[in-house]
Amino acid sequence: MIFFFSGLGNSRYVAEKLSMEGERMFFIPELERNQCYRFVLEKDERLGFVFPVYCWRAPKLVSDFVAKMHIEGKPEYTFAVATCGDDCGKTERYFRKDLQRKGLALDAAIAIQMPNTYVNLPGMDVDAVEISTEKLQKAEARISEVKTLLEQKARVSQMIVTGAASLKSDVVQPLFYKFLVTDKKFYTTDACVGCGLCAENCPLENISFAKGRPQWNGNCTTCMSCYHHCPHHAIQFGKTTLSKGQYYFKEK
Ligand SMILES: Cc1cc2nc3c(=O)[nH]c(=O)nc-3n(C[C@H](O)[C@H](O)[C@H](O)COP(=O)(O)O)c2cc1C
Repeated sequence: MIFFFSGLGNSRYVAEKLSMEGERMFFIPELERNQCYRFVLEKDERLGFVFPVYCWRAPKLVSDFVAKMHIEGKPEYTFAVATCGDDCGKTERYFRKDLQRKGLALDAAIAIQMPNTYVNLPGMDVDAVEISTEKLQKAEARISEVKTLLEQKARVSQMIVTGAASLKSDVVQPLFYKFLVTDKKFYTTDACVGCGLCAENCPLENISFAKGRPQWNGNCTTCMSCYHHCPHHAIQFGKTTLSKGQYYFKEK
């Protein structure tokens, strides 16, 4: 069985491609909405997690879910596949600890580079079209490679770590969650036509409508799905997104 989270579709696509025929797939926000935390593994069933890297760790909502989940039966093989724009920092180390607390071992920790979705800080933007296209092309081959590794139950550590991992994952990540993971900075410009795509695409169902305009209701992980899906670029996060690009995964 595979548990996954995805804001803009990269990790959803990867999770679907990596799944084996008939394998059970669970979208973590859906499980949270239904308060579903107990799962029974079948004999020889593998246990997998697929998620985007958020500030050089697994998204907090993924770690929080793992803390609540109860797995009955011993997984034959456990893997984590993280999609990232460029760098995972200490994602593996932290996620391994999340699992350890539940008495679970991690056999494979693997990263797949995908187009970047984080735009909320100065200097951070989506990839240029050529880079994004190249990443998606390379990802196809990488996904096939990873699928084979997982089917062979390979014990591997293949995260992408570019440097200053402790500073990023130990020091910056807690500050990031304290100051930047909030929906209070979202607003719409006059370009908003009230089409509702932001609400439709919010994985946490955090957006409702009042007087034809979206309002955010406090349960946000800043995946930026609302921002990226807006066909009029009318959703902004403070001032930093005003001149940034948009991206979400589109199946060819
Ligand atoms: C809040 C947030 C934080 C991110 N932090 C990182 C990061 O630390 N390192 C990285 O390489 N990419 C980072 N990214 C980019 C995503 O990990 C990457 O684009 C991922 O493939 C998005 O997956 P999704 O489409 O399934 O949401 C971040 C994106 C968001 C929205």
